[in-house]
Amino acid sequence: MSDIDWSLLKEHAVSAMKSAYVPYSKFPVGVAALVDDGRIVSGCNVENASYGLTLCAECGLVSNLTLSGGGRLVAFICVDLNQNYLMPCGRCRQLLQEHGGGKLAMMTDQGVKPLAELLPWAFGPEEMEKRLD
Ligand code: THU
Repeated sequence: MSDIDWSLLKEHAVSAMKSAYVPYSKFPVGVAALVDDGRIVSGCNVENASYGLTLCAECGLVSNLTLSGGGRLVAFICVDLNQNYLMPCGRCRQLLQEHGGGKLAMMTDQGVKPLAELLPWAFGPEEMEKRLD
C-alpha cells in the first residue's frame, strides 16, 4: 500500500467536497478512492429537503465507480469542510465493503487502516455466495 499517492487522493476529495450540496447541514463531505486499474473516483454529499433522502458522498463515489467502468476500490479517503479526515458512517462503510472488501486501505486520523478493522465481521457478497451454494 506504500505506492498509494494519498496527497493526490486528498486533492480529489477536497475538490469533490467543494461541490457538495448541503443547504441543510452545511456539512460538506468529499471522498475519493483509487481503483485497481489506477483510476480515481470521487463523490460529494447531496442533501434533500426530505432529509432522510440525503445521499452521502460515498453514494456518489460508488455511482461514479460503476459508471466509469467498475473495478475494485483499493484506497479511500474522506474529508470534511476543514480538509480533516472523516470516518464514513456505518451505512457507507457497508457500501465500501461491497466494492473494496476488507482489505480496502482507509485513511484515518490514526494512519491507514484496512476496512476490516473499521467494519469488523462484515456482511458482504461472499457471505451470500457461501450460503447459496
Ligand atoms: N455524510 C457523508 O456524506 N458521508 C458520511 O460518511 C458521513 C455523513 C454527510 C451526510 C450529510 O449530508 C452530512 O454529512 C451531515 O450528516
